Amino acid sequence: MSKKIASARISAESSALLKELNNSLPFDKALYREDIRGSLAHAEMLKEQGIITPEDYAAIARGLAQVLEEIESGAFSLEGDDEDIHMAVERRLTEIVGEAGKRLHTARSRNDQVAVDFRMYVLRHDLEIAALLRELIASLLEKAKAHTETLLPGMTHLQHAQPTNLGYHLTAYAAMFRRDLERFLDSYERNNLSPLGCAALAGTPHPIDRQRTARELGFREPTLNCLDSVSDRDFALEILFNIATMMMHISRLSEELILWSTSEFGFVRLSDKHATGSSIMPQKKNPDIPELLRGKTGRAYGNLMALLTVMKGLPLAYNKDTQEDKEGVFDSVRTAELSLRVLREMIDEMAVNTEAMEAACMKGHLTATDLADWLVREAGLPFRDAYHIVGNVVNRAEELGKDISRMTPEELRSVDERITAEACALLDNRVSMNARISEGGTASARTREQIERLVSWLEALKV
Ligand code: ARG
Repeated sequence: MSKKIASARISAESSALLKELNNSLPFDKALYREDIRGSLAHAEMLKEQGIITPEDYAAIARGLAQVLEEIESGAFSLEGDDEDIHMAVERRLTEIVGEAGKRLHTARSRNDQVAVDFRMYVLRHDLEIAALLRELIASLLEKAKAHTETLLPGMTHLQHAQPTNLGYHLTAYAAMFRRDLERFLDSYERNNLSPLGCAALAGTPHPIDRQRTARELGFREPTLNCLDSVSDRDFALEILFNIATMMMHISRLSEELILWSTSEFGFVRLSDKHATGSSIMPQKKNPDIPELLRGKTGRAYGNLMALLTVMKGLPLAYNKDTQEDKEGVFDSVRTAELSLRVLREMIDEMAVNTEAMEAACMKGHLTATDLADWLVREAGLPFRDAYHIVGNVVNRAEELGKDISRMTPEELRSVDERITAEACALLDNRVSMNARISEGGTASARTREQIERLVSWLEALKV
């Protein structure tokens, strides 16, 4: 067994159990690209500042390129005994280039190294997820545009409430996902700062240039304070929160698609690509995909709670507890990106049963509020009195076994003679849906306006 390269004081070989607990290589190997990129930028800066010679830099750069290639080809397997990705890359580099490799860690610690690697990973995925959200929103708006005239019963408490249209409903989700997308971009902007050069906790006496490495790695500038920077994991917490909230939205949409694809609703039919059968009931077509999306939301919440809990008692600066930051983030990022891709495909390919939606509007007296509004507006009644009269109208409709929108002027007048034919016309579901012309309302014209606003926002977006 080779002596630990990072330990001058520990002579005994680590116990197998310590390695199992301590080694992060099994998961932080996912950061190999970031680690090599960060190391290259650091080495180049060391050369520019005269801290290492141009010859040593050349050897390091050549060696790192070879390590990268060996990892990608599988020639250097990251399954070994190294403690983490940083030690693995440095060890292999030194095997390849000798002495020069041992100079790479000048003015650097694994504390700033892991902080910069992980931050680059998270920032990259902030943008990747934003781009996938953009695609999903575009798909939702496309569907919404096609259905601004498709009547849909709007619900509260999952009970029929007022007529809306499918385009309006889908636009509500597009608005939610817009907030999500903006959260990822906000997080990207806020956290786009480089911790490289903070070293262990306090900076370094070497004449380094943090501005240079920050620029080289695509950061806006270096972080302010080294003590904070090596222990800050807010960027990771933010992506976990952003993903958890986005998954909550995905889960709500999934729940509706599950309900809508039941025989009770029959509003949509998911493509056979996105449904599975039952092993025993030959007639079944199950909405496994939206169920899984709803289920995966649980793990996204779990990952957020786990890291919040890891961080809560940590004194400054770096503590090994922080190594627990990665697996949850990797898991949430994988879950988020897969969920977005699947959801978009499902939305694109689902079939909408507009007749079933419109037929459902004939149940539940969706236009009752319109009659009350009319009595207030045209007959000058106080709203509460109008409300009670309409209650009686609904009772009468129930006795007649029909929906309020199907009542004749005579039937309406038999409940209250102030109700005229003009009022009767307002009880039509489409008229009611189009009557809600207040800003943000359900009228087809207002729905189209909302869609247009979201489309222009999407077009101006740079992700
Ligand atoms: N594997 C470690 C992590 O993920 C790298 C930093 C180790 N630093 C240290 N001082 N032991 O956090």
